[in-house]
Amino acid sequence: MRIRQAKAGDIVNIYGLVKEMAKKELVLPKSKGKIAAMLANYYVAEENGEFLGNCGFKIDPDLRAEVVSFVVRDGFNGRGIGSELLKTVLKRIRSLGVKNAYALTLRPDIFLRLGFRKVDKRTLSRKIWEDCAACPRNEADPGSVNCPEEAVVKEW
Ligand SMILES: CC(C)(COP(=O)(O)OP(=O)(O)OC[C@H]1O[C@@H](n2cnc3c(N)ncnc32)[C@H](O)[C@@H]1OP(=O)(O)O)[C@@H](O)C(=O)NCCC(=O)NCCS
Repeated sequence: MRIRQAKAGDIVNIYGLVKEMAKKELVLPKSKGKIAAMLANYYVAEENGEFLGNCGFKIDPDLRAEVVSFVVRDGFNGRGIGSELLKTVLKRIRSLGVKNAYALTLRPDIFLRLGFRKVDKRTLSRKIWEDCAACPRNEADPGSVNCPEEAVVKEW
């Protein structure tokens, strides 16, 4: 298994896997165009040329990086692929001089093992008002934050 930066040819796989996991409300969906625009921020895991998962990040104007589209294909979980993807993304974020990473997640444990800590979701107000506004869980009222996800933050 190896982790590498995503290429144009990965867009269709990233799109398909994120869409599948978004249907289960585990991540937010991303259009192919959005993935293309953020392609340099995506990493993929593969084994013998087979696509296994992906993870990306985006940098907010306040220089905080959000981990996004963190998914491993069903059937390949528990092999450390997610941990390696996340470690690679964090290394890249850090290499850019960005000193704060965060995520909203139903799977905080994997983040906590890599040095994140839980924080109050309301401290991520920009994220909650902009991205979460489109999430079906919030029923068009992001301020209510009616969502089971937990906020995790890592600082360097
Ligand atoms: C979250 C997700 C990306 C993790 O991917 P993964 O490849 O299964 O991750 P890992 O194998 O590194 O770790 C998963 C678990 O397996 C265990 N594990 C088993 N073998 C392991 C190994 N060799 N190395 C590391 N962890 C291992 C870990 O302890 C971990 O336990 P946890 O359930 O407490 O987190 C994956 O489960 C997924 O796609 N979930 C659906 C989408 C989602 O919820 N994404 C998160 C959005 S922020």
